[in-house]
Amino acid sequence: MPLTQMSPMLRSALAKGRAVAAVNIIDFNSTRAVIDCARELGVPVITQVSTKTVKHWGAKSVASWVKTLAQDSDQDVALHLDHCTDEATIRTCIDAGWTAVMFDGSKLPFAENLARSTAIYDFTQAAGVDLECEIGAIGGVEDDKVVKDGEEMLANFDECLEFARAMPRMGVFAPAIGTAHGFYKGEPKIAYDLLDRIAKATGLPIALHGGTGLTDDQFRNCIWRGCAKVNLSTMHKRDFIEGFGAVYARDRRPGEPLVYLEAQHKTMRDSLRPFLSLFSLGGKGAA
Ligand code: 13P
Repeated sequence: MPLTQMSPMLRSALAKGRAVAAVNIIDFNSTRAVIDCARELGVPVITQVSTKTVKHWGAKSVASWVKTLAQDSDQDVALHLDHCTDEATIRTCIDAGWTAVMFDGSKLPFAENLARSTAIYDFTQAAGVDLECEIGAIGGVEDDKVVKDGEEMLANFDECLEFARAMPRMGVFAPAIGTAHGFYKGEPKIAYDLLDRIAKATGLPIALHGGTGLTDDQFRNCIWRGCAKVNLSTMHKRDFIEGFGAVYARDRRPGEPLVYLEAQHKTMRDSLRPFLSLFSLGGKGAA
C-alpha cells in the first residue's frame, strides 16, 4: 500500500484503547524488520526517523526504502520525522513524501515554542501532513538532544491546553510525563494523573516517548490513559548493532555479509514482536 497518514491510525487506536508502535529506523534492513513484524502481526506501524539519520542518508533515500517496503505490505505504514528542531529539514522531508513530522520546540521558552509550533502547524495542515509537538523536557538522550539528569521537566497542564486550543488537529501531542529517552537508570516516575488530565482535556492522541525499558504494566497504564503512539528507539538501535555484531563475533565469514544481515533482521524483528503485539492488544479497559 502507499504510505498512510498517521492521524487516522492514531485516532482509531485511541478510540479502541490501543497504541501504534513508532520505531526509529536506521537503514533499509532496520526498516524491513519493522514493517515485516507489523505485517506478520497484522497491525499498523509508524516508521520514524531521527533528524541525524535523515541528514546521514538524505530524505529521498529514506523515503524510498519506506515507500518500497510499505508498497509490499497490506498493513498501514506511516513515515514520521522524530524530534526535529529545524524547519528546513521538516520542509525537505515533507517534499520527499513524509506523512508526519515532529517539531520539537521544547527547549524554547513556552511562548516561542507555541509561536513556532503553530507556524509549522499551519503549513503542515496545508500540506496534508500530521504534526507532533512537545512541551516540557523529556529526560535522556535522543539524537543530538540531551536533557541531563535533574533537568527533566513535566509538562505544565495549562500550557498543554493552550497548545491543544491553538492546534486542534495536531496529529499527536508529546507532553513530558516522566519517561526518558535511552536506557532507564532507575524506576521512571510516570505522572499518570497528569497524563490522564492532559489526554481527557485535549482529546488528542498522546505520544509516549522513551519506550525502551518500560514494563508491560507501564505500557498498559499509559495506553489506557491515552498514549496512542509508543516510541521505541534505543532497543531497536541496540538490536541493530548486536544482531549483526554478536553473530559475526561468533562466526567470522568475511565474504558472507548477507548471513549477518539476516541475523540482524531476525534479532530486530523478534525483539519488536512482543511490543507490537502488546500495544495492539491495548491497555487496561481496552475493548
Ligand atoms: P527510547 O530510545 O527510550 O526507546 O525512546 C524513543 C523515543 O522516544 C524517540 O523519540
